[in-house]
Amino acid sequence: MIVVDSIEGVRQLVRTYRNQDQTVAFVPTMGNLHRGHVALIKKAKKYNGPVVVSLFVNPLQFAENEDFSTYPRTLERDRAVLEEQDVDLLFLPEQRVMYPRGLQHQTKVEVPDLGSILEGVTRPHFFQGVTTVVNRLFNIVQADIAIFGKKDYQQWVVIRRMVEDLAMPVEVVGVNTVREQDGLALSSRNSYLTADQRRVAPALYRTLQGVADSLRRGEANYAQLEEHACADLSDSGLRPDYISIRHRRDLMMPDKNETEYVVLGAVYLGQTRLIDNVEVSSRV
Ligand code: PAJ
Repeated sequence: MIVVDSIEGVRQLVRTYRNQDQTVAFVPTMGNLHRGHVALIKKAKKYNGPVVVSLFVNPLQFAENEDFSTYPRTLERDRAVLEEQDVDLLFLPEQRVMYPRGLQHQTKVEVPDLGSILEGVTRPHFFQGVTTVVNRLFNIVQADIAIFGKKDYQQWVVIRRMVEDLAMPVEVVGVNTVREQDGLALSSRNSYLTADQRRVAPALYRTLQGVADSLRRGEANYAQLEEHACADLSDSGLRPDYISIRHRRDLMMPDKNETEYVVLGAVYLGQTRLIDNVEVSSRV
């Protein structure tokens, strides 16, 4: 695996890949890699060309009160994981490479509407931070394919919208959520949970599945389903932020005849905020 920390270094290598007509697949990450990230890399490998991974904890997507400074940084282990997966190129930029003018003066990319609902309500600057960094990464790497996890479902939808709106020449591919045995979606933030919190955390996925089952049975009183789900979460000892039934493609409110849903949820366990979602198709 070649490790590069400069834009020119990435460009040079990608140019050689492209000259050989290879399909370049790209997986952006913030490190602290787990089986979820590995699933993305395995998907990238399927395109039979070079796989580029970036590792950058992006300050622009953290609010002042969030966990940028404590976000787990495990570079040595991450490098071993990437070596083992036979990744071709690791882009490991320092902050001054990504934001040479500083965070304030960086040109921002913003997806309206989609970026301000659901996660965007509690984290108003989050998606602007994500789209800004992903846009810059896309321009640096110039991959043919970019792979994202559906664990962060809204992020996946927002990125696809950005690519469409800005006519970016990259295909965005989604990978299903990788979970622990008890259903908890793998996340770097799971490491913040105490043993007691970890025990109750799977209630989020269980509750989302409950809502999905109701939708499959044809229940269409969405507001009531969401309300009951929040009550279930509270009973399980989680503090719900939202449970929301949305249209799968664009995260808009579904109408009564909808058949393609995603049920999204966010909860607090102490200071830790966890998100998850379940896709539902109720078409018969
Ligand atoms: P990070 O949280 O490191 O996640 C990198 C990628 O891994 C994202 O596409 C995310 O959806 C995916 N992922 C995380 N947990 C997963 C799981 N359990 N199953 C499947 N995929 C999973 O998401 C980010 O970083 C950043 O916002 C980033 C896109 C890199 C921009 O900074």
